[in-house]
Amino acid sequence: MKSFALLAMVLGLAGHVSSGYPFCQGQFAPTPQHCAKFGFEKHPPCIESTNCTTFYDISHLPDQAISAQAAKMAQLITNVFENGNTIMGYAYVVNLKDNRGYTSGYIGFTSGTNDAYTVVQEYNKRTNKNALSKFTAELSRLSNLPFCNSTRASISKLGQPYVDAWVESACTDSVFVQTQLDLGHAMYLRPALKFAAYSGVTSNVGKAIFYGLYRRQMILLKNSTVDIFYTIIEHGWQYVEPKINIWRILQLTGPRGKDSEQAYLLRFLNMRRSLLCCVPDNVSPSSADRVSDLTDLIATSASWERNKDLSNPVRLAQYGATVKGSENMGYDTKNCKKYKQPKNWHFPKAVDLPIPGTESCHR
Ligand SMILES: *[C@@H]1O[C@H](CO)[C@@H](O)[C@H](O)[C@H]1NC(C)=O
Ligand SMILES: *[C@@H]1O[C@H](CO)[C@@H](O)[C@H](O)[C@H]1NC(C)=O
Ligand SMILES: *[C@@H]1O[C@H](CO)[C@@H](O)[C@H](O)[C@H]1NC(C)=O
Repeated sequence: MKSFALLAMVLGLAGHVSSGYPFCQGQFAPTPQHCAKFGFEKHPPCIESTNCTTFYDISHLPDQAISAQAAKMAQLITNVFENGNTIMGYAYVVNLKDNRGYTSGYIGFTSGTNDAYTVVQEYNKRTNKNALSKFTAELSRLSNLPFCNSTRASISKLGQPYVDAWVESACTDSVFVQTQLDLGHAMYLRPALKFAAYSGVTSNVGKAIFYGLYRRQMILLKNSTVDIFYTIIEHGWQYVEPKINIWRILQLTGPRGKDSEQAYLLRFLNMRRSLLCCVPDNVSPSSADRVSDLTDLIATSASWERNKDLSNPVRLAQYGATVKGSENMGYDTKNCKKYKQPKNWHFPKAVDLPIPGTESCHR
């Protein structure tokens, strides 16, 4: 996961260029007046983690469940925002040169932070002979460097063999795909449900909106000749990014109070869109389009009625995609072209992993 200081390095280079974004106009225009409340003009120092986690302890927040079908819709919607389609990127690996090493898997686990390491550790527990296990020591070394040390992004000891091992595992071993899914649930889906419950949000579309916050974002800039991806974590729940994390947006949005859930979600999405438009880089403002698509799902009482349960197909206008809920999430047909889907491909049973942020340990 990223730190805000790393983001700030990107920001410094990019300058403030968001005024031209079509979804950052009018009430969302990044004017000094609109942006002052976010405090982006001052780049904070990199925040070093004080315990062995970069996450808040959210064990005291209420829990709520999500149906398998609604979880599927939420994941597919977010995948459209990230990958432009509903094919899950289990075998995606790329060095985005964004100070986070290799970004990989359906959620964008990164080698320069702790989460790719967590995936490989968990995979090792499930099958001790696997193509990725030989990178465990290097991932451990990187993950144990101070959070603010930029050499965490080093790929010199991973390189192409790591990329190949990730792709091979994701394309040939469903245990690895299930490992990614289980960690994605523990790190993103279940925390999202907790933050939603805490905010009085219980509809399926509301859960999907909260889930969509945490994901690593991959923006595909449409270019007929090349695909260019940029990433940034939008609003995670890590205390090392205090200006853009979920607590900050909840605080700025204010409590739900007597508002209907629909009215609260619209307020929340508007705040999030304002924030994205004000982040002084050339990446965040361009993702205001996804907030626009989410807003469209609930903007009127007719659309709220149609979409609140996520039981109908969902149209994401700016991305030109419709999520039906019947899509196959089982295999990464896009990044596994070199491989054939193994016969009898099926997932092992899901494993409930603990939500991070509650480990008590000392460095
Ligand atoms: C770790 O430290 C952060 C920041 O002080 C705090 O928010 C979090 O709850 C701590 N987690 C644990 C398990 O102590
Ligand atoms: C960062 O870590 C490297 C080891 O990879 C070390 O040599 C270097 O001194 C560290 N830099 C800082 C500023 O701590
Ligand atoms: C698309 O990418 C190519 C190759 O990098 C570049 O020459 C071209 O200018 C890009 N087009 C747009 C519209 O950005």
